[in-house]
Amino acid sequence: MNLIICESGVDVARAAADRIAREIDRHPHLVLGLPTGRTSIPLYARLAAARNEGQCRFDRVVTFNLDEFVGLPPTHPGSYRAFMARHCFEPLGIPDARVHFLNGVAADLDAECASYERQLAEIGGTDLQVLGLGANGHIGFNEPADALHARTHRVRLCQETRLANVGLFDGALDRVPTEALSMGMATILEARALVLVAQSANKREAVTAMVEGLVTPRLPASFLQLHPRVDVYLDEDAAAGLSETTRLMARRRCNQA
Ligand code: GLP
Repeated sequence: MNLIICESGVDVARAAADRIAREIDRHPHLVLGLPTGRTSIPLYARLAAARNEGQCRFDRVVTFNLDEFVGLPPTHPGSYRAFMARHCFEPLGIPDARVHFLNGVAADLDAECASYERQLAEIGGTDLQVLGLGANGHIGFNEPADALHARTHRVRLCQETRLANVGLFDGALDRVPTEALSMGMATILEARALVLVAQSANKREAVTAMVEGLVTPRLPASFLQLHPRVDVYLDEDAAAGLSETTRLMARRRCNQA
């Protein structure tokens, strides 16, 4: 893992956005995997600013989102599709026709998952997968478990994860769906490169285990250790549990970059 430790969350968003914008500049037809979550909001805002300043165009990228709640139509304000329209697709000018999203109200959810995998395969897979990190170590909605799903699947959400998403439902936990559809671990790890962003002290334990712990389904993000091209952008609070050696290596890499 290539760690980039930034002073603040603002710097995390700036550095990760620069990395993504550089990639799109080089490959305008990039296939981008995208996350939701509070950490992604300043990242998308930063990319939108780059677009408004004429530094980057997003109208030719193709996007695949990681996950969606079961039971919410795309028009529901709590859906991830609506979140992405608000924070990403509209401000970045990504045309609807280039957006791919899991449909949480599909009549046959298993067929929906299989079709998503097919669409991704047909386009040749993800070039750059952007990820957030759950405080319990989840990526997408791959929750800690004894065994993980390789492919896009239906998942029951942990209470902790539902609580983390309560902001999308006016703070009402009973309105947060109990199930979701999510890309699987192999779907995510097949991306040619990955960028993970994490900030704040509530991610500290998950970050430490992801970077320094065993590779275990009890912490799905730890599987990123197996991928050769992962850039992890952290603020000081999220990085505070890492060993001195890890931090030293990260500083060296940053200085060389
Ligand atoms: C949700 C999403 C994840 C995301 C996580 C992080 O659970 N399903 O893909 O990584 O939120 O959220 P936040 O950035 O709000 O902590």
